[in-house]
Amino acid sequence: MSDRLRQSENRTLQNMLLGDYVPELIREARERQDEIMIERFRGRRLRIADIGSGEGYHGSIFAPECELYHGFEIAPELAAMTRERWQTEGLSNARVFEGDVAAAELEDDFYDLVVCMYFTPGNFRDVSEDLSLYTDQYLDHNPVFIDIMSRYYRALRPGGDMFLTVYRDLPEAEAAQIDFYTTTGHPPVSAKGARYVATGDMFWSVRWTEQSMLSNLHDCRIGKNAVTFHELNEIAWLVEINKPA
Ligand SMILES: C[S@@+](CC[C@H](N)C(=O)[O-])C[C@H]1O[C@@H](n2cnc3c(N)ncnc32)[C@H](O)[C@@H]1O
Repeated sequence: MSDRLRQSENRTLQNMLLGDYVPELIREARERQDEIMIERFRGRRLRIADIGSGEGYHGSIFAPECELYHGFEIAPELAAMTRERWQTEGLSNARVFEGDVAAAELEDDFYDLVVCMYFTPGNFRDVSEDLSLYTDQYLDHNPVFIDIMSRYYRALRPGGDMFLTVYRDLPEAEAAQIDFYTTTGHPPVSAKGARYVATGDMFWSVRWTEQSMLSNLHDCRIGKNAVTFHELNEIAWLVEINKPA
């Protein structure tokens, strides 16, 4: 992908991530996601990988008690912010790897827990200005999502867990996305009713059905019996994947 498209996407993402405005349903889903993760995992001595770690706030929550915390982040400004944040907090077991997770080099069977929070799984795709690429067939078998999730699934130890926060493909979710992107200055250019929303400055976020998540995970060799959909609210799921022991 060209640097120009990636830089534009990074800028847009940062603007939304670090800005003050968040639609109520998206804020609620994020809070519920965090409550569930904290209840289940805070205080445990785990090896944790955070795919698309953003400004690093999940590391601040979990690293004080976990064995190690690895953030993976493509945007250099966010990676630098995270490095400084974790250093200031004295989290010597937390480290951020800067770069595209599609090229991450990972050790097999290493992590106890892999997280991809706050709708990040929906950002992964071949970045293109040609929106006709994103057909239903593409979205049901998204090669970039499959490559990334396969890599991190391999890096998960048997018995380990993976958690993905995603939008559900419902009109209420689409309305919240459009509100979020428009209000933060990134109006959509994709057709209303499409299964994803794309902005003119290269931000892209897909919504999921149970079937589209399961078909993509099937391509990662993850069977449906390993997958649980936790409803965060009417627009979002926390998808739990358990790797057999
Ligand atoms: C929606 S934000 C979520 C950030 C953080 N996980 C949170 O919960 O606040 C998505 C993050 O994933 C990063 N990201 C997107 N695509 C990526 C890629 N291919 N490789 C690494 N990071 C990526 C973005 O730069 C951004 O920081």
